[in-house]
Amino acid sequence: MTRTIELKTAIPGPRSREILARKERVVADPLSVFLPVVIEEGRGATLTDVDGNTFIDFTGGVGCLNVGHSHPRVVEAAQEQLAKFSHTDFTIVPYEVYVTLAERLIGASPFRSPAKAAFFNAGTEAVENAIKFARAYTGRPAVIGFEGGFHGRTLLSLSLTSKTHPYKAGLGPFAPEVYRVPFPNDYRGPSADEALAALERALITQVAAETVAAIVIEPVQGEGGFVVAPQAFLDGVRRLCDEHGIVMVVDEVQTGFGRTGKLFAIEHYGIEPDLITVAKSIAAGLPLSGVIGKAEIMDAPGDSAIGGTYVGNPVAQAAALAVLDVIEEEGVCERAAQLGETIRARMESWRERWPQVGDVRGLGAMLVIELVKERNGASCCSSPASTRTASACSHRWSSPTPSSTRLWRSGKRRWTSY
Ligand SMILES: Cc1ncc(COP(=O)(O)O)c(C=O)c1O
Repeated sequence: MTRTIELKTAIPGPRSREILARKERVVADPLSVFLPVVIEEGRGATLTDVDGNTFIDFTGGVGCLNVGHSHPRVVEAAQEQLAKFSHTDFTIVPYEVYVTLAERLIGASPFRSPAKAAFFNAGTEAVENAIKFARAYTGRPAVIGFEGGFHGRTLLSLSLTSKTHPYKAGLGPFAPEVYRVPFPNDYRGPSADEALAALERALITQVAAETVAAIVIEPVQGEGGFVVAPQAFLDGVRRLCDEHGIVMVVDEVQTGFGRTGKLFAIEHYGIEPDLITVAKSIAAGLPLSGVIGKAEIMDAPGDSAIGGTYVGNPVAQAAALAVLDVIEEEGVCERAAQLGETIRARMESWRERWPQVGDVRGLGAMLVIELVKERNGASCCSSPASTRTASACSHRWSSPTPSSTRLWRSGKRRWTSY
């Protein structure tokens, strides 16, 4: 049954309000809620709340549901696996689904040389472990990230994450040997050449190139505002990594699994990275993340230096295999590319109509409009829109795909991307 918006009560409805009031009493305050309705059921692109109201889910579980809520193939695969066994710890008693998923992902990834994979739970673990692989391989300590980058909320990934509020302020000290340089931004600057020059300068003025283990980069910055890395910039990063023996880590936690019109966003660039981090849509909402990378790097850490009790859960991995089937059989990448074109054309028409639409950018269905106070010709001088404008617009202008919108969290005064 195709469901669509259907409102039966005021929003939030009485049952949602009651549960949220209970939540206030027992759940820690930092876990504040974006959407004040409590979900009962999710199907495809819709969710139905405990009061029977059905909404289009523009959040997509924060980029985790590229194949939609509760896809029957995914549900069946997860249920079947759960009925067999749910946990052993792969390094204690191994299981086939782990190996099969590694084979499938490596087969679909842009590595030209032999590659290997390792699985974890959250995106932040994938990033932390990618850095462990890189450090073990190079024997070097330093890591370079980018302004606007988001890589997670545990210590090392949080140290790499750029934004102070709401993520870092008051939570230091952070991990040492993490350096940050500007990310190119066609709309606000710097240009690809300027950003590359800044990175080269940093290797002289901030951290010696021969001490850098990894450069960690999102091909499209997610939390940073769907800022697409220009080809020339990623080419330059690849060249610098090659020149200095630095491991190029491409963080595809948010850009992965079809959202940009390819399985991995890095495929748009024709670049072979050294390591790729994956999570979010890999298992349609079940907690699973991974690092895929060149075999010599993945094999570098010592025995048992990588692992964890729950890493690579078999139920989540069975779901991930089903996700890969769905992506192939239902042409999810092609559909994301098509939807992206449709949405982009609409967004461009908004830009022509309204001066508050400063920029339209993104890749495939991962698209955003940037709202500004005024568009005065010199785009880099435009100031971001006020909270009120953006808040009002977020209700009217959010784009029609679950995982490709970027909405203003009105109560919290911050951008968030989905
Ligand atoms: C690019 C990127 N890397 C890493 C993470 C961290 O993932 P997780 O929240 O699963 O730890 C995120 C989360 O939004 C992300 O967007």
